Amino acid sequence: MALCPCPNRVVLLPGGLLSLLLMLTLLVTQGLPAGLRPPVVLVPGDLGNQLEAKLDKPTVVHYLCSKKTDSYFTLWLNLEILLPVLIDCWIDNIRLIYNGTSRATQFPEGVDVRVPGFGQTSSLEYLDPSRSSVGSYFHTVVESLVNWGYTRGQDVRGAPYDWRRAPNENGPYFLALREMIEELHLRYGGPVVLVAHSMGNMYTLYFLQQQPQAWKDKYIRAFVSLGAPWGGVAKTLRVLASGDNNRIPVIESLKIREQQRSAVSTSWLLPYNYTWSPEKVFVRTPKANYTLRDYSQFFQDIGFEEGWLMRQDTERLVDATVPPGVPLHCLFGTGVHTPDSFYYESFPDRDPTIFFGNGDGTVNLQSVLQCQAWCGRQEQPVSLLELPGSEHLQMLNSNTTLAYLKGVLLGA
Ligand SMILES: *[C@@H]1O[C@H](CO)[C@@H](O)[C@H](O)[C@H]1NC(C)=O
Ligand SMILES: *[C@@H]1O[C@H](CO)[C@@H](O)[C@H](O)[C@H]1NC(C)=O
Ligand SMILES: *[C@@H]1O[C@H](CO)[C@@H](O)[C@H](O)[C@H]1NC(C)=O
Ligand SMILES: *[C@@H]1O[C@H](CO)[C@@H](O)[C@H](O)[C@H]1NC(C)=O
Repeated sequence: MALCPCPNRVVLLPGGLLSLLLMLTLLVTQGLPAGLRPPVVLVPGDLGNQLEAKLDKPTVVHYLCSKKTDSYFTLWLNLEILLPVLIDCWIDNIRLIYNGTSRATQFPEGVDVRVPGFGQTSSLEYLDPSRSSVGSYFHTVVESLVNWGYTRGQDVRGAPYDWRRAPNENGPYFLALREMIEELHLRYGGPVVLVAHSMGNMYTLYFLQQQPQAWKDKYIRAFVSLGAPWGGVAKTLRVLASGDNNRIPVIESLKIREQQRSAVSTSWLLPYNYTWSPEKVFVRTPKANYTLRDYSQFFQDIGFEEGWLMRQDTERLVDATVPPGVPLHCLFGTGVHTPDSFYYESFPDRDPTIFFGNGDGTVNLQSVLQCQAWCGRQEQPVSLLELPGSEHLQMLNSNTTLAYLKGVLLGA
């Protein structure tokens, strides 16, 4: 299944042809006994799993906000608490507070946030526990796995985390992830397939770069990467400057900006110089042009100087010039208008004019193609599959993605 015959060239098979090939393979390989199915661990992206909070706050920003709760409630995602006024309570609870001395974030006073359901798939199948379709995320993938014989919470597990933070502040998560993979190996007698989406790929790459090669050889059968922002994402500049309510249109951009700035993972995902030219202007205003060499100035000019510290704390966490060292499959959407650069008539408090390029609507094509640079740089095979017209979230529901995944898990 190595579509990328390393190290010489990369072949991008069109999705249609590939699914046909897979179907043929699958006809022969269906009905494997359970022992031959590799266990699967799902790693979600930014905003990609539930968070819960419990409150006992000294003060609140509005009299309608709860000061104290008896138990944990769903902080993400619950559309009911994103209504006007309540949104202010929500932002005051979900924001992180950065300490420029300790270079670490903490929760606001009296707010305890936890990630529910580690090891389960529930907190990433539907973001909204009411299971409304607006919050449907990994559900189709998990449902397909179940149809192929997998069991939720047994041989298909979720690895949710606090996506507001970068890996440097999620140490215990990576220990738990390693333990879970080792346990799955022991229980099912073979190595694990990792399936990550979006920022979950950066988390997975960070994790793999921390493990010795012998560990990876023993425990990881393959890494299926969906829509990975290996080189960062251009739209984070807009998110930091003026906010972006794209995923949650009920909120005004400037309101969501406060939460988005306080999440260290946003600055972590700014474009990197191994993917983008240092000459490229991402943001233009009447007064300045900002390239990736101008982040310090950019943070200063948007009135968010802590962001520059956050970037410096995190920009070396993942070295995307170093391959993951496991058999890798990179699936990526193309042909969707993807924010590429921005012009601000009024900077930074108004929405910009957006200029689009190629990608999946969120992740720019040049970022996801960092995967191609790993061909021949690791012994293990690297395969790339373009999904024409597949949008960043929609690719999780695409039949081509699912057929490919089935081929990786059950084929040959
Ligand atoms: C920030 O961190 C420093 C060093 O760890 C600590 O002394 C200080 O109390 C912290 N500030 C706040 C506001 O928590
Ligand atoms: C790329 O950026 C890193 C910091 O993230 C810096 O250390 C390095 O020198 C830069 N490389 C080039 C070629 O500019
Ligand atoms: C920004 O770049 C454009 C295009 O290269 C140039 O015309 C303009 O003068 C630059 N603006 C500033 C403020 O440097
Ligand atoms: C994807 O597969 C499902 C189930 O096999 C089918 O019902 C659906 O029509 C397919 N969707 C597309 C876009 O081909």
